[in-house]
Amino acid sequence: MVKAKKYILVNYFVNEAKSTDLKLVEEELPLLQNGGRKDYIIIYYDRAHIYIFLFLLEYLVETEYLSVDPYMRPYVRDLPLGTTMIGSQVAKIVESKNPSFPVGKKIVGNLGWRTHTIIDPKTEDLFFKQKPYLLPDIDELPSSLGLGMLGMPGNTAYFGLLEICKPKSGETIVISGAAGAVGSHVGQIAKNLGLNVIGICGSDEKCKWLTEEMGFDFAINYKTMPVAARLREVAPQGVDCYFDNVGGDISGIVMYQMNLFGRVAVCGSISSYDADTSSLPKCAILQPALVTNQLKMEGFIVKRWSDRWNEGIMQNLQWIREGKLRYRETVTKGFENMFDAFIGMMRGDNIGKAIVQV
Ligand SMILES: NC(=O)c1ccc[n+]([C@@H]2O[C@H](COP(=O)([O-])OP(=O)(O)OC[C@H]3O[C@@H](n4cnc5c(N)ncnc54)[C@H](OP(=O)(O)O)[C@@H]3O)[C@@H](O)[C@H]2O)c1
Repeated sequence: MVKAKKYILVNYFVNEAKSTDLKLVEEELPLLQNGGRKDYIIIYYDRAHIYIFLFLLEYLVETEYLSVDPYMRPYVRDLPLGTTMIGSQVAKIVESKNPSFPVGKKIVGNLGWRTHTIIDPKTEDLFFKQKPYLLPDIDELPSSLGLGMLGMPGNTAYFGLLEICKPKSGETIVISGAAGAVGSHVGQIAKNLGLNVIGICGSDEKCKWLTEEMGFDFAINYKTMPVAARLREVAPQGVDCYFDNVGGDISGIVMYQMNLFGRVAVCGSISSYDADTSSLPKCAILQPALVTNQLKMEGFIVKRWSDRWNEGIMQNLQWIREGKLRYRETVTKGFENMFDAFIGMMRGDNIGKAIVQV
């Protein structure tokens, strides 16, 4: 019998999440099932064809890396108490009745905060409606990239930038949340496409990393610099694209410095995730900026491109191999430190992708 550890939700988060909102429990997993009779093998033939239907048999995985992501904070509102905390992970197949998922291979799946999982290949997760998939062959690269540049955040950067901002060489882009998983990736693609890239983030160390290692042209520390004045200095020509990860005041400031027909990709609004949702948020009046400069502002969720998921992963993999994308991870060791890693990421402790290694 395998014992899994998992975190369950015992209280809804109020303002900043507390460690007591989650509880670490153990669960004994049952033996693997072969699936129902009709699930695992149906073969028949006529004169011209043989039809073989997919095997749908269970397999057991052991978690190697877990992701902590900002979406976990707002999405928890929709979970019944007692549910396993949501999240994605890279896990190794340790037992299998399924020839498509052999022992030794690794998968990426939205399995939640847990150490061992029996996977029924038919089941999609609650939020992303995505089935676990085999981690592509990435050779010497760390498998944790399946949660970052070669996973959901990487695809968010790739599709959000290309499909919503529609960037053109010579334009200026501003990225908020610039030193995180999505932001640092967006900036690098934009730079490769020939844009002038300006990042906004929360520390001098992050600013230094963006400009000295990630190829950003300028970085603004929103905690210590006057963002509006500094942005006018570094982008006197105005802003054409804004990739918005944070919302709130920073976004209002950027949007009032945008050029005619500028494009805004609204990816997230982490500045509001801990806010009390029962009272209306304060927000800047954006309509004059939108109307005067005929801006286009569009929110998106990366699963919009689930039919092109593999395209994003393969393109980002190629760019990493060609040295056109660099990655950095902030790795917390130990499953028992999941909550600290999560809250640390929400507070801005991470540079690049925040990961937990079990
Ligand atoms: N639409 C989609 O499909 C999709 C998919 C993935 C992610 N997202 C969104 O993309 C954004 C970035 O996600 P990520 O995974 O790359 O996270 P991340 O940027 O790696 O980590 C979160 C960062 O947010 C910053 N932050 C925290 N509170 C802030 C505040 N009040 N104001 C400004 N910045 C704040 C912190 O950096 P600082 O030190 O700079 O403050 C922190 O490091 C989030 O809003 C997330 O919800 C959307």
